[in-house]
Amino acid sequence: MKRLGVNIDHVATLRNARGENHPDPVYAAKFAKKAGADSITIHLREDRRHINDADAKRICSIKGLLVNLEISTNSDIVKNAMKIKPNFICIVPEKRKEITTEGGLDLIKNRSTIQNIIKKFKRLDIRTSLFINPSLKDIRISKAISVDCVEIHTGKLSNLVKKRKNFSNELKKIKECSYLANDLGIEVHAGHGLDYKTTKILTSIKEIEEFNIGHFIIGESIFMGFKNVVKKFKTIIK
Ligand code: PXP
Repeated sequence: MKRLGVNIDHVATLRNARGENHPDPVYAAKFAKKAGADSITIHLREDRRHINDADAKRICSIKGLLVNLEISTNSDIVKNAMKIKPNFICIVPEKRKEITTEGGLDLIKNRSTIQNIIKKFKRLDIRTSLFINPSLKDIRISKAISVDCVEIHTGKLSNLVKKRKNFSNELKKIKECSYLANDLGIEVHAGHGLDYKTTKILTSIKEIEEFNIGHFIIGESIFMGFKNVVKKFKTIIK
């Protein structure tokens, strides 16, 4: 059974636009779970542009809720994450000026830093994943540095589908990476830029066990309601 992780960062983006307390990401986390989300994803960015430390602590203290905390390799953020103790960690690249996470980690350049971070979270018994591009080389490095899961960046595929361009090569890459990761005993996740159509396309890859989806869910909720959108994604990935 494939799982749905709902990224609620943009509930905090909306709250922060007013500098007040509404809409509350803690309420959103509880609400998403009730609607059928298997886990909640939040990204504690270095500039705290959406979720902040207090939100992360409050969300991680909700009983019975599985929380996936996305973090960069910044040492202060890693320290904070170790204090917050989420159920899952996803290590992502982060550039201060980017609008969103633009691509996967550079595992060649940052291999030893990332390996050390994985060891820290392993000691705390926290499932750790790496946000990577669909590259066989990166899957092999992920295996060598003993990570539990990889999350394959689906941004390129999503853009091609949205622009009605040929996406077969990109889908093939994601498929091959999913097969290899699965063969090597690494759990496969997918995320970035996903909507109903792209998620449906990716459900053909049985090795993908988890989808992490944010922007589209929050945006579509304006028209269709949060509960309905989460439910629809659950039906698609079933
Ligand atoms: N997965 C990871 C690792 C991400 O960094 C993001 C974006 O923060 C997402 C999934 C969700 O992407 P989107 O908001 O485009 O659905």
